Amino acid sequence: MTRPAPLGFGLGLRPTYYDEILSKRQNIDWFEIISENYMTGGGRPSATLERVRADYPIVMHGVSMSLASTDPLDFDYLRDLKALAERIEPAWVSDHLAWTGVHGVNLHDLLPIPYTEEALAHVAERISRVQDFLGRRLVVENASTYVAFRESRMSEWTFVEELAKRADCLLLLDINNVFVSSFNHDFDAAEFIDAISVDRVAQFHLAGHTDSGTHKIDTHDQPICEDVWALYERARRRFGNVSAMIERDDNFPPFGDLLAELQRMRDISAAVDAEKARSAA
Ligand SMILES: [Fe+2]
Repeated sequence: MTRPAPLGFGLGLRPTYYDEILSKRQNIDWFEIISENYMTGGGRPSATLERVRADYPIVMHGVSMSLASTDPLDFDYLRDLKALAERIEPAWVSDHLAWTGVHGVNLHDLLPIPYTEEALAHVAERISRVQDFLGRRLVVENASTYVAFRESRMSEWTFVEELAKRADCLLLLDINNVFVSSFNHDFDAAEFIDAISVDRVAQFHLAGHTDSGTHKIDTHDQPICEDVWALYERARRRFGNVSAMIERDDNFPPFGDLLAELQRMRDISAAVDAEKARSAA
């Protein structure tokens, strides 16, 4: 199993920063788009995407595939997604291990699933069908969760690892989601990281979250916290050189603040490589 070649250090392409991104060649290796925001075509988003695509690699990240739903797969959506992929030729296409609705109702949220054998078989089969339709391997992200099911029979990391094997898909390891869920469900985030096969991980997400005291919520509206930086370092050590990016979706700071976070990611990554080189020598 070969994972895609690493792209370096990226950012989410968001309208707030279009002007800065287009103004000059930035020290950013690649961009991730929210697929749904560019699927209708036309307008400023599509025009911007075309200009950015001319200068940087792009990765497509969707929020609507509803991989874990019991509704039929939405092939109208998948056709539009495939058309966008054919147009912009992304390095890969990702979505979440979650469901967004049932009985035709879209709740516009990434909802949790029970970690059972039944769910595993169900989601693996759907990922396989999506991959057949898109003609490419899908990259699946661990979601952050706030409730758990009494029916669950395995840990989230056992489920994710087994799912990747059965569906023969790749994984987008969201380091912040691992941390948020580990707090909300009282598990060891390091155990999650250490349980995932190295050759399955195509991408990392880093982001900030909101701490409500009793729960942490994956809001993407804060700087990346120290615990998540430490977890990134651990993941970087385990998984090696993996494409990593920052998701920022609200409470947008000056662009320079995100570039500074990106630089910290580069520095951690370089320090891990230097340490490996020293211990190999
Ligand atoms: Fe994420």
